[in-house]
Amino acid sequence: MQRYFFFVTLHTERLTSPLPIMKREIVCSGIRPTGNLHLGNYFGALRNFVKMQDEHECFFFVADYHSLTTHPTPDNLYNNARQILVQYLAAGLDPEKSTIYLQSDLPETVELYLFLNMNAYLGELERVTSFKDKVRQQPGNVNAGLLTYPTLMAADILIHKATRVPVGKDQEQHLEMTRTFAQRFNSMYHTELFPLPQAYNYGHDLVKIPGLNGSGKMGKSEGEGNAIFLNDDPSVIRKKIMKAKTDSGPVEPGQAKPVEIENLFALMRAVSSADAVRYFEEQYDSCQIRYGDMKKQLAEDMIRFTEPFRARIAELGADEVSLRRIMDHGKERAHESARHTLDEVRHVIGYRQ
Ligand code: TYM
Repeated sequence: MQRYFFFVTLHTERLTSPLPIMKREIVCSGIRPTGNLHLGNYFGALRNFVKMQDEHECFFFVADYHSLTTHPTPDNLYNNARQILVQYLAAGLDPEKSTIYLQSDLPETVELYLFLNMNAYLGELERVTSFKDKVRQQPGNVNAGLLTYPTLMAADILIHKATRVPVGKDQEQHLEMTRTFAQRFNSMYHTELFPLPQAYNYGHDLVKIPGLNGSGKMGKSEGEGNAIFLNDDPSVIRKKIMKAKTDSGPVEPGQAKPVEIENLFALMRAVSSADAVRYFEEQYDSCQIRYGDMKKQLAEDMIRFTEPFRARIAELGADEVSLRRIMDHGKERAHESARHTLDEVRHVIGYRQ
């Protein structure tokens, strides 16, 4: 990570290399710019992005078309997208190894989205869990973009013919839909143009990082204090963790943990040492646990874990020239890949070339 910062500040003139060759799989993923990144985004997605860029041909973008479903203001749109880019870089994404771009810099995606929408059906789109959640959360803004969210996501992935998509557990159904749309297109036009991409997490189950308020998932819109952001100040982290929901403690040895306690242990497993986790597990099993001590340990471990991000986010965020250069470079490379796919798609559909 340190090495990367050096590159961004001193070697932006090297951003001229062609697409990396001899990499095994095509990887693609993105994150919506709806706020700062939290530990759920990191462990579910970003951590794998960083690892995969050394092994595969990777396309990572900021999903700023998708963010329009919640109507950001023009003032916010670019700054939010830029902030996610900064956080990608701060986590270790390297524009020499990966193609890093803004989704809105690749309008080819929208043309593919239109083609895929012609074979996406109301019934299947209405059954998508994330759509049903949004209908409940924002009944006054059930727009067509929300309904067709999975076809835009499929277009993001298929435009590069990606086969692996590093995402958290909550995106699994969207990946299933992507395979459905790809398969449908292939059989409709008697082609094998699109591969069938898989959600990916290094041979393990997809990750779901829980929130601090006893809710299932850490998320940007799950309520105040639910998420720890990569750039939270230490004092904020301490406050959020000390406020996390607990219960009155176990009364029988080996008692099953209620959800909010299991959540704290899950967070601890993500950022603390195995020894610390074992110690508090034993304390819980023998009914001696003091949640205050456990939270203090967790807070200090979170602060230590997020420390390098905070420093780099501040430094990288101040360098507009390098950021613009990285965006331009990513746009060019993404365009090269997308243009190729779109030419094939148009040909298969029957348009004039
Ligand atoms: P978004 O922006 O909601 O989340 C970005 C990534 O973070 C993961 N994530 C989590 N993983 C584990 N635990 C959590 N609590 C948690 N919260 C979020 C998400 O699974 C995701 O991987 N639709 C996508 C963005 C997108 C996309 C794509 C992704 C648009 N096009 C194409 C992959 C490929 C979304 O809204 O993610």
